[in-house]
Amino acid sequence: MGSYDREISAAAVILAETKKAAAFCGSGVSAESGISTFRDPGGIWERINPMEAGTSGGLISSLAKNPEKLMGIFFELLEAFEKAECNPGHLALADLEKMGILETVITQNVDNLQNEAGSGNIIEMHGNLFRMACLSCGRKKKLDRKPLILYLKQTLRNLKDYSLESLVTLAPRCDACGSIMRPDIVMFGEAVQDLPRAFEAGQDCDVMLVLGTSGVVYPAAELPFEAKRKGADIIVINPNENPFEEITDVYIPMKTGVALPAIVDKIK
Ligand code: OAD
Ligand code: ZN
Repeated sequence: MGSYDREISAAAVILAETKKAAAFCGSGVSAESGISTFRDPGGIWERINPMEAGTSGGLISSLAKNPEKLMGIFFELLEAFEKAECNPGHLALADLEKMGILETVITQNVDNLQNEAGSGNIIEMHGNLFRMACLSCGRKKKLDRKPLILYLKQTLRNLKDYSLESLVTLAPRCDACGSIMRPDIVMFGEAVQDLPRAFEAGQDCDVMLVLGTSGVVYPAAELPFEAKRKGADIIVINPNENPFEEITDVYIPMKTGVALPAIVDKIK
């Protein structure tokens, strides 16, 4: 198995001995599902300015200023989210949970793929694109990924323009109060979700898998450091440089979709 066999084995040995591992995931885990990461070359933040489109206020004014550009990128993202299927990395994390090794997956991803892979205990710090939240009463409602995307693609094509007024007509309505709902994701400047639970999971684990994240968005990126302070072993899987070097016990510079199944195979 390639040149990192030693690292894969070292990770397998550490994981085989624990029942209290946690995974901390970033967009790299879904890259092999065809979903673009944010900061790799050609990533989402190279194509849209996060300060313009990464906040809810910014998104509204960018839409008003240049709706065609933003909607063009939005359509491409919708296509990617529609075609995506969970990859061997997501499935290996679900396997590790079933094997009684992995307690929690803490993810920054909003794509729902870790749920679809069958993991039971997932903390989605940046929310979920396919869960709607009511703007008035806060009630939440989970929708199915593929039917929702089909509906959006069809209705967006039939809109007369992409003004805020027109787009709002597509928003689902809250069953409880009738107000409009928006995707329950965390934009810049908004509070992350489930922070106490995420920190608890980071502090309680004795091994943390740090997977496919550039580790630049806080407070999420603090979790591996918190886990290390509490004595956890840190296993990092990321083909590129990352800011966790000084706390890393085992570093596997590979794609998660390749390395994670290889680790599971070694443990079995
Ligand atoms: P980034 O785009 O910042 O980082 C992606 C990381 O994945 C990089 O370190 C890559 O080297 C690595 N990577 C790429 N392909 C990989 C693969 N196949 N296997 C393993 N690793 C791979 O994405 P995040 O760290 O997820 O926030 O970004 C964190 C947050 O920034 C996101 O949750 C999002 C964004 O702004 C919100 O939406 C609130
Ligand atoms: Zn409501």
